[in-house]
Amino acid sequence: FKDCNNGCLEECMGEAGSKPVMGTLKAKDLIITPATILKEKPDPNTVVFGTVFTDHMLTIEWSSEFGWEKPHIKPFQNLSLHPASSALHYAVELFEGMKAFRDVDNKIRLFRPNLNMDRMHRSALRATLPGFDKEELMECILQLVKLDQEWVPYSTSASLYIRPTLIGTEPSLGVKKPTKAMIFVILSPVGSYFSKETLNPVSLWANPKFVRAWKGGTGDCKMGGNYGSSLFAQCEAVENGCQQVLWLHGEDNQITEVGTMNLFLYWINEDGEEELATPPLDGIILPGVTRQSILDLARKWGEFKVSERYLTMGDLTTALEQNRVKEMFGSGTACIVCPVSDILFKGETLHIPSVENGTKLATRILDKLTDIQYGREESDWTIILS
Ligand SMILES: *Cc1c(COP(=O)(O)O)cnc(C)c1O
Ligand SMILES: *[C@@H]1O[C@H](CO)[C@@H](O)[C@H](O)[C@H]1NC(C)=O
Ligand SMILES: *[C@@H]1O[C@H](CO)[C@@H](O)[C@H](O)[C@H]1NC(C)=O
Repeated sequence: FKDCNNGCLEECMGEAGSKPVMGTLKAKDLIITPATILKEKPDPNTVVFGTVFTDHMLTIEWSSEFGWEKPHIKPFQNLSLHPASSALHYAVELFEGMKAFRDVDNKIRLFRPNLNMDRMHRSALRATLPGFDKEELMECILQLVKLDQEWVPYSTSASLYIRPTLIGTEPSLGVKKPTKAMIFVILSPVGSYFSKETLNPVSLWANPKFVRAWKGGTGDCKMGGNYGSSLFAQCEAVENGCQQVLWLHGEDNQITEVGTMNLFLYWINEDGEEELATPPLDGIILPGVTRQSILDLARKWGEFKVSERYLTMGDLTTALEQNRVKEMFGSGTACIVCPVSDILFKGETLHIPSVENGTKLATRILDKLTDIQYGREESDWTIILS
């Protein structure tokens, strides 16, 4: 980093710097090469998550020399990469996850996509990947969804998953900030997360020997390396008869996240107050769009205390002993909310009475957010594809 004093900061900020606008990402430069053969669309009720892709994809190449090239929508196809590409060796890469919904009036809606663009940009800077104009990228993604709009399921339980990705394509083995990179966006129809109207609860495995994220690390960015390195713990969770990992942190076993979801506890807190609590964004928590939306909703409802605060396994076990826990649930784009039924911790199963207490809050949140996503309720949280 010795020559990072003056020029680099600006360079790291990509388009935010005051350099000439050469190589800026612009949606009006889009080149569209339509597919000649269209694929058959799957039944969204039986399709396995992330296995089927639409007819087109978006790619945008970048180099430090020329900036962003013209965005290109083209038939879905394999990438051709230099085998030394830094994404493949050093995980210089990041991704996003969001959805398009077909609403009750047959219009296509996206849910708070600007928050995904903001997060993607933050992840890019943290990964030393190039910055980009968030609105222009958004517009390119909208054009892609528009071209493949027949792939947005005709169903108010299914949706089209959107996976923007930014990878370092530096063709050398040097561990350094890439001089080449590429954005690509692929689309995949996904079914309902839950089998029927009921919310299926999950069991969690909590073992402090594995750590997902740490202060000063990259846990607050959707960088691929965070996920590849979590699989070993996930396998151990399954070997121990649990479905997901409850990620703990620190000497006091702070409860941080569950699998790839944020975590909420709805309880009567130590001071006897009804409270919805989730850990604060202190650098080890991924700032979920669903997390933010739940906090926004609950604060607007104003019916109970809403807190971003630390929660430890000790706090939870005491509350369980004193019968103060109402519900615990994970939150994320895939399921929106996912109730927790059990936590296996230090050889003991702690039962969380989410289901006994009717998953009332989780269900209320699920209903509210799906009403917005499928246009049963108008909200400035959705944008309609024109
Ligand atoms: C993506 C993700 C979430 C959920 O974020 P949403 O924007 O709500 O989908 C939570 N935790 C982790 C670790 C994640 O990767
Ligand atoms: C893409 O790559 C996969 C894996 O190597 C291969 O099976 C498939 O045939 C390739 N598709 C095309 C169109 O070349
Ligand atoms: C949650 O459900 C359990 C089991 O039915 C019950 O004993 C408890 O009182 C409920 N807790 C709260 C805080 O409502």
